[in-house]
Amino acid sequence: AGYPIAIDGPSGSGKSTVSRQVARELGLCYLDTGAMYRAAAWAAQRAGVELTDQPAVTAVVRAMKLEMPLDPDNQVMICEGEDITSAIRAPELSRVVSRVAVNLDVRAELIARQRAIIAAHPRIVVEGRDITSVVAPDAPTKILLTASEATRLARRAREVRGSAAPDALAATRAEVSERDAQDSTVASFLEDRDGVVTIDSSQMSIADVVAAVRALAQG
Ligand code: CDP
Repeated sequence: AGYPIAIDGPSGSGKSTVSRQVARELGLCYLDTGAMYRAAAWAAQRAGVELTDQPAVTAVVRAMKLEMPLDPDNQVMICEGEDITSAIRAPELSRVVSRVAVNLDVRAELIARQRAIIAAHPRIVVEGRDITSVVAPDAPTKILLTASEATRLARRAREVRGSAAPDALAATRAEVSERDAQDSTVASFLEDRDGVVTIDSSQMSIADVVAAVRALAQG
């Protein structure tokens, strides 16, 4: 094993928390590729183009000036000179990111940028949906983080609404299932292949998952 560490997983699998913590503990860089798709959607909206207008969105994303933070403790995102750190987490934006993520020309552009970052900083944890399969299939450490649907939903509700009470769960369920349905049209991101270790975190604490990832990378 070794670096880079590639981590894929669905929403609520804990991949962001785990990836950031692993990077912190091992002194590695950290790249959140989901944030790049969020930035792409933000940039397209700011440019006033319809997210379904693929050529127009592609042109915006190819020209997009985006500084990706690589410090796990400082994830401030600057796009076109603006701090978009909180804007890209807004529920309205989360709802439309997949419209941009299904655009294969946008994916090609962002994947090229991700590969350039990895080449310049090979001691890195990269998280997303297609890292082990497309972005860095040769990474020595490849992990697929999964969790049961109930676990993912409760984590998501706490993250987005600060509560896992019944009404928060119901509202979150509606959002997540809508987004998962949209995402499944992109590709079979979660398909398992040789060299990818699946960790089901449903019954594990964050610390346990972090320890498991560290052991795999250092083994
Ligand atoms: O944390 P969560 O998975 O909910 O969201 P994220 O990682 O911030 O990713 C936001 C969206 O970007 C996902 O719902 C996918 O549509 C897209 N995405 C992608 O297509 N490929 C990636 N490598 C990462 C994210």
